[in-house]
Amino acid sequence: MNEEDKPKVIQDCQTKFEKRIKKATTADEVENLRIKYLGRKGEIRKLFGCIQEIPPEKRGEFGSLINELKSFMEKKFESMSEQLQNLSTSSTKEKPYCDLTLPGVPFVMGHQHPISQIIDDLLDIFRSMNFDVVSGYEVEDTFHNFDALNIHKWHPSRNPQDTFYVDPEHILRTQTSAVQIRAMENGSLPLRIVSMGRCYRRDASDATHYPVFHQIEGLVVDKNVNFCDLSGILTEMMTGVFGTRVEVRFLPSYFPFVEPGAETFISCPFCGGKGCNVCGKAGEIELGGSGMVHPQVLRNVNIDPTIYRGFAFGWGIERIAMMKYQIDDIRLFYDNNIDFLEQF
Ligand code: PHE
Repeated sequence: MNEEDKPKVIQDCQTKFEKRIKKATTADEVENLRIKYLGRKGEIRKLFGCIQEIPPEKRGEFGSLINELKSFMEKKFESMSEQLQNLSTSSTKEKPYCDLTLPGVPFVMGHQHPISQIIDDLLDIFRSMNFDVVSGYEVEDTFHNFDALNIHKWHPSRNPQDTFYVDPEHILRTQTSAVQIRAMENGSLPLRIVSMGRCYRRDASDATHYPVFHQIEGLVVDKNVNFCDLSGILTEMMTGVFGTRVEVRFLPSYFPFVEPGAETFISCPFCGGKGCNVCGKAGEIELGGSGMVHPQVLRNVNIDPTIYRGFAFGWGIERIAMMKYQIDDIRLFYDNNIDFLEQF
């Protein structure tokens, strides 16, 4: 059927539509036209509404002409959707949404917490010395945290005023030394491990105490190890962390799970031992405990102390970080103050 044979109402509708769509220049105008012609109360609907007025024998033909027009319009709107996008971008081009001559907004990147940085440094150092890195449990049983470490039932550190109890047999571990026991129970000899993680003690927080803190624990069990090996490992560790050669000094001390045991000092990496503000003019800094594993501890995990010996150390990571970055208050690590954290 050619154009002249189309019923006049349909033809008129098509002619008007074509004129209008040609004039539409913005996305809004095109959308308004779509609603006007294809919407629920649109022109196409109205045409269908006229069907009753058509003699029954012509209704089929009339209906299919409306359908043809409808799909013609749909195709037109579809092909215009690309142009619509161009229309909307060209309208933003006319009104630039930003002034490209303004200085850029700095992109703020997060970074590692200073404690995590020290942990990563320590991991690198110990991996380079061929240590295995193992992890333990923060909720630990009293056997691994106390009994197996030779800490007697009456020892004050077991007091609920010092230790967080989960139930009578489970606590939040007070020291990573519990990992020594697990490593000796599970590992094969010789053993060379480090472990780092959170520990908990019921301390009121002040400049040097916080109820949660991190420790690094090291343990070596072999046939012929001695204090010189311990000293060498600790020297390497601290030289790696501070980036300058330090010396280690042992001061005899008591820990139930090592014999002999020692408080361990390093020469001040900032003044080389002469005395400065960081070391409080002492020339050295105390960093934690160490010693030769007590024979009873070895027996507790079925290792024969007449054949094997071990040494261990357990140091506070916050303390190392406080020295390295010269921070005088441990609470700063946990305040989440962005100004403080951004310095690292
Ligand atoms: N676990 C001890 C503490 O928390 C430190 C230590 C570890 C001492 C290993 C000796 C050997 O104080």
